[in-house]
Amino acid sequence: MPDMATTDSSLRPSASRAVKAVVLDLLDTYGEFDPVAGRFEPHRPSTEDKLRVCKENGIKIGVIAEFPADMPHDRGVEILRQGILSQATANAAPVTVGDYIDARFFTSNHSSSADKRQRKIYLDAAKALGVDPSDCRFDGLDDNDVTAAEAAGLCAQQPLDAQRAGVVRILNRSRNDSGRQFQAFFEHEHLLGERIFGIGDAICAGIHRLVDGRTPKQIPARWQSPPRIEASGEAGRLRRAMSYFVFLLNNFANQVHLVAEEQMFELAVGAGMPRSQVKWVFDQHDQARAYWAGITIAWRRICEGDADDQWYAHIDFMKNTEAFIFLFRDHAVRENNSTYTLAGKHFNDMDDMQALKLGERFLPPDMSLYVGIVQNAETLLGISA
Ligand SMILES: [Fe+2]
Ligand SMILES: [Fe+2]
Repeated sequence: MPDMATTDSSLRPSASRAVKAVVLDLLDTYGEFDPVAGRFEPHRPSTEDKLRVCKENGIKIGVIAEFPADMPHDRGVEILRQGILSQATANAAPVTVGDYIDARFFTSNHSSSADKRQRKIYLDAAKALGVDPSDCRFDGLDDNDVTAAEAAGLCAQQPLDAQRAGVVRILNRSRNDSGRQFQAFFEHEHLLGERIFGIGDAICAGIHRLVDGRTPKQIPARWQSPPRIEASGEAGRLRRAMSYFVFLLNNFANQVHLVAEEQMFELAVGAGMPRSQVKWVFDQHDQARAYWAGITIAWRRICEGDADDQWYAHIDFMKNTEAFIFLFRDHAVRENNSTYTLAGKHFNDMDDMQALKLGERFLPPDMSLYVGIVQNAETLLGISA
């Protein structure tokens, strides 16, 4: 039995002759275009695995793509080539699609004057690579694209990794789908985390406005009452948003994400991942929990404390929130770009499925409850989704 985790079926030619080049439907099969950020987000880590296998076996790599009417060929190619696959372990430099595929080997609807359902674009792609179409394999998800590629004389098969990523994409609606399902799942949860960070940023800005320029001068050994903090109008809306924020930290962030992630990483250690590669995750989770405890105590003082403590309680709420967000914005990026990928390298398909199921087990029965609370806080703070 071949090991399905390491066998790349899309490189197996249907005919007996060896494949000299692959033509990839990069944009629609191996990633997502994020129209807001203007970025191409490749599936991770399956796309880099595919490109590496091709490169190591001397197989040329080309791409066909359909760009919008107002996106010139060169700009579209530039966006695809800038897609980040991973970060280099040695110096954290981004590894991009452009490191694997030369700009000359991209063929688009603009450069070919044909779309993906016409055989001409596949003939032009083979020509750009300098190979006969029959020496070429097309990898793409869409049946109609596959038919057009076969009509052009290429062999074609829908890649298993991409099929699986496509299913995950539909299930999770993630921008950062992955060949490993658990990775797509946890990266998807980070998207909601980013919205919670945005709420925290807006709360800190709101507290800054309340205290700005009013800080009392501390005189040694002489107590004086600090300024009073407003709690009506905009300050009242801020206070309601703070209530939602504390609720999300104490009822969602830890139980749904951090604990699930820690158990998933325990599976990865069991599958052979060195514990030293993942220790930082556990340490930073505990650090975040300490900040959340600080935020929760400050919130209790804001709600129940006396008038003279309100000023200090707001400052403590803000400082703990700033420290948490500063740490965890980068925490999520390091997980997405590095540590999930390292864990995925130790997982076979069965481990991947178990890690996904584990993550799902921590989801509340109705996630829309928490998404609704995030939206409530965003509305109070004037954040447009
Ligand atoms: Fe984490
Ligand atoms: Fe995370």
